[in-house]
Amino acid sequence: MNSFPTIQLSTKPGVIDLAWGQPDPKLLPVAAMQRATEIALQKFGADTLAYGADAGAGPLLDFLRARIEKDEGRALAHEQIMLTGGNSDALDQIATHFTEPGDTVLVEAPTYHLAVRILRDHHLDIVPIATDEEGLRINALQEELAELKRAGKRVKFLYTIPTFHNPTGVSLSEGRRRGLVKIAAQEHLLLVEDDVYRELAYDAPASPSLWSLAPDGVVLRMGSFAKSLAPGVRLGWLTGKGEHVQRIALGGLRDSGGGVNHFTAMTIAALCEEGMYDAQVETLKRAYRERRDALSEAIVRELPEAAFAKPGGGFFIWLNFPNGFDAQVLRGRAPEHGVDFIHGARFFVEGGGTNALRVAFSLYSPEELQEAMKRLRSAIDA
Ligand SMILES: Cc1ncc(COP(=O)(O)O)c(C=O)c1O
Repeated sequence: MNSFPTIQLSTKPGVIDLAWGQPDPKLLPVAAMQRATEIALQKFGADTLAYGADAGAGPLLDFLRARIEKDEGRALAHEQIMLTGGNSDALDQIATHFTEPGDTVLVEAPTYHLAVRILRDHHLDIVPIATDEEGLRINALQEELAELKRAGKRVKFLYTIPTFHNPTGVSLSEGRRRGLVKIAAQEHLLLVEDDVYRELAYDAPASPSLWSLAPDGVVLRMGSFAKSLAPGVRLGWLTGKGEHVQRIALGGLRDSGGGVNHFTAMTIAALCEEGMYDAQVETLKRAYRERRDALSEAIVRELPEAAFAKPGGGFFIWLNFPNGFDAQVLRGRAPEHGVDFIHGARFFVEGGGTNALRVAFSLYSPEELQEAMKRLRSAIDA
């Protein structure tokens, strides 16, 4: 009898699969988690194994609050932060508590394709807003808001990834961040900020979060340990206005089940307190910076016709090919050449991206990434 699969990641033998935005298993902190588990059980005893407080495990919230206040210069009251099961869970909970089926929400074009799946689970009307090489176009947002208003539609929120975007790698400029926050405040538009790549900044610290720039109540910011520690921990955090955060913290899910992933949260609290989180972030930044550089150099060498911007952080490079190029057709034959990626159209809700594709540099070594670009060249030439 076949066993059930253990993990989500599965790659075809012989294929360098740059479709996966997942970490290299060799970079996951197995020994640190083992030590942290022992420390947590010793230090917190049976509290590690009880139902957790509804907003999440106190020791981890204490750590996060202090770290966020120090890094982002914005104080957090207790009711303004809670733990989540990562950003996928946070987005699902926000959709549960802030929308009803048929409501309108906005996303960037392109956007993270699996966030769109979560929004579709809630039967929302998803309207794309154009972006350019600097990220979300503020004028396009204003025009769409005016049009929706004329049509009598109220927008429940804008889902946005301003920092090291998936799929484009772009970070919204500070000027546009301030403009976006200002318009959102004027228009009473809730911004749902997906900040999953903040820690993975390779050249300079990430730009200030929308949350840190906005008046209280404008932004719900979702942070996650998935990329900066390990995706299997299924843990993240949410910062925002007390009333907004508490709507989720006091919801039925937490009332019945307690704080999410409590045992893991207590373990990560121990890991953070011992300095192992900061050490892991530094290790990841070193490894991913090298991979980003290797992939960027290989693209310039092997695919001179592709336009791209080297991202300052995150997991992805977005390649734009000349008009007429069809990334979906290329994807059909790429695995025969030992390489794979995601074609651009997957990241658009209403068409676009035909001549673009996304490659992730998180899963493979610099040498494998260079080999992947040679294979992509031969797939294109074929
Ligand atoms: C933009 C973005 N948001 C959310 C996620 C998933 O986050 P989590 O693992 O915290 O649920 C990903 C993972 O690829 C992502 O790229």
